[in-house]
Amino acid sequence: MQKQREMPYVAHVFVCTNDRGGEKKSCADNNSQLTKDKLKQAVDEKGWKGKVRISTSGCMGLCGNGSHVMIYPQKVWFSGVLPDDVDEIVSAIERILEDD
Ligand code: FES
Repeated sequence: MQKQREMPYVAHVFVCTNDRGGEKKSCADNNSQLTKDKLKQAVDEKGWKGKVRISTSGCMGLCGNGSHVMIYPQKVWFSGVLPDDVDEIVSAIERILEDD
């Protein structure tokens, strides 16, 4: 029998890495895998493991202006993200942790 439990993280960050191979626009066009890798590295360096989780997401349905990064349960959503934008996302996570 399944059990319901509280979310174990303060913030769960989803990075869409869906790749349509150039046939249609997709988040991978903006190197979202590198964005995810950089976010994971930042979480490790900041010592946020256990509080912040970085996960890969499939398509979120807004492929035209990707890549997309969502932070839940805070409902923060970044669009048009490039790997160089990671510092801004890390700052947003930092503010979330400060408010927790
Ligand atoms: S490919 Fe990322 S939202 Fe569709």
